[in-house]
Amino acid sequence: MRRSIIWKFFAVCISLTLVTVFALNFFASLKLRRDFESKISERLRTNAILVGHILREQLHGGEPSVIQEKVKSLADELGLRITVIDPKGMVLGDSETEPWEMENHSDRTEVIKAMKDGFGQSTRPSETLGYNMKYVAVRVSDNGNLLGVVRFAMPLSEVQLEMQVIYRTVLFGAAVALVIALTISYFLSKSMTSPIREMKEIAQRLAEGDFSRKVRIKNKDELGELAKFLNTMADELQAKMENLKRLDRVRTDFVANVSHELKTPLTLIKGYIETLEDKAINDTKNAGKFISIIKDHTDRLSNIIDDLLSLSELELSKDSIEKSEFDLKSLIDDIALGFGHALAAKQQKLTIEPQGDNFKIKADRDKIEQVFVNLIDNAVKYTNDGGRIEICLVQQNGGIVFTVEDNGIGIPREDLDRVFERFYRVDKARSRQLGGTGLGLGIAKHIVLAHKGEIRIESDVNRGTKFFVTLPKA
Ligand SMILES: Nc1ncnc2c1ncn2[C@@H]1O[C@H](COP(=O)(O)OP(=O)(O)OP(=O)(O)O)[C@@H](O)[C@H]1O
Ligand SMILES: [Mg+2]
Repeated sequence: MRRSIIWKFFAVCISLTLVTVFALNFFASLKLRRDFESKISERLRTNAILVGHILREQLHGGEPSVIQEKVKSLADELGLRITVIDPKGMVLGDSETEPWEMENHSDRTEVIKAMKDGFGQSTRPSETLGYNMKYVAVRVSDNGNLLGVVRFAMPLSEVQLEMQVIYRTVLFGAAVALVIALTISYFLSKSMTSPIREMKEIAQRLAEGDFSRKVRIKNKDELGELAKFLNTMADELQAKMENLKRLDRVRTDFVANVSHELKTPLTLIKGYIETLEDKAINDTKNAGKFISIIKDHTDRLSNIIDDLLSLSELELSKDSIEKSEFDLKSLIDDIALGFGHALAAKQQKLTIEPQGDNFKIKADRDKIEQVFVNLIDNAVKYTNDGGRIEICLVQQNGGIVFTVEDNGIGIPREDLDRVFERFYRVDKARSRQLGGTGLGLGIAKHIVLAHKGEIRIESDVNRGTKFFVTLPKA
């Protein structure tokens, strides 16, 4: 059977409380009983001393009947049994019985002790009365001469009756303490265990993949810390799950995209070949046109495959970039020359603005060239005729930052995060028409990351786009 932690905790509290209350009860009763008994002895003793004083004259050789009379009236007033015994043990007066009917008392423990030490007490059954009594005896003397012993007695049943009142009071106190302790321990167990229960519930939800709920425990103790860890763990798990899902999506998209990108040119190529087969091959004018279209598509296929290969190569061997020292500025100048024709065709103007003069960098020259080519190619492609492209070079924090800025069509805010994904194109039709497959920025990003650099983008629709690339010097 599964038992809740609250009951375990509660059981421990109850056991502790019970043990404590019973121990307290036991010792308190013991102590109270002793106190009570000694108080009774003390009372009897004082009374006996007083009676001794009162009877002193008679004990000097007075009339025994006077002693008996006085003893009776004093006992009546005090409500206790009084016995007066002479030094030889003979009973001179007794409030309960006639003295001559009583045997010699010199052998009674309390009497022997009183004669010797001045005070004695004992508890035993009374031979005269037949039930348990508490006896207290004191010596009466005059200038050291023993005159006799005054003895007080009290039925033990009376003592016990009073003791019972004490026991009952103590027991009542214990019961009250027990109830209070139980109530407190119940609420304490609850308050201790409710955070544990809450965390258990949330951990269960986590296990089922529900990350929506958080533990709301603000305790400043270990439980609070545990709650914090649980929440952090939930956040991390959630992030990891989302990332996994995203990766999965990217992968599926990727496969679909690759197939699509390869299939389109292949379908077209097949179509043209079939047309050629159906006689068009004899139509010299059109045949040449078809063949050159087939060639274009074949080039395109081969470009896509090259891009895919370099992407997967980058992914597989991030560390295998071959670094050499070269000047970034002169690399850019060379690339710009290569774009001369494309720029002229769209009447676009490219400016290069180095701020400073030392742009030496240790990196993989071919790959960095690929980054520039991709960025400048995009700027040219996605900027209208007569547009402006600006490249800036700055040294910063021991690295080099370069920017490629255009005043072209821009990228909508919601697409900004995704343009680095493989095959992602903002306007698919337009980009494909321009010969793009959506791999350029993915490749650029991988290259920059492999160099432990950073790439980021700022863009406004219809205003233009600016790419920032930071590369460490070595
Ligand atoms: N300078 C830019 N201005 C506006 N849009 C841009 C710019 N650069 C990239 N884009 C958008 O980002 C998309 C992804 O760019 P990327 O370079 O990865 O692919 P592509 O240019 O379409 O194809 P590829 O570079 O593989 O030939 C582009 O299709 C385009 O929509
Ligand atoms: Mg591109």
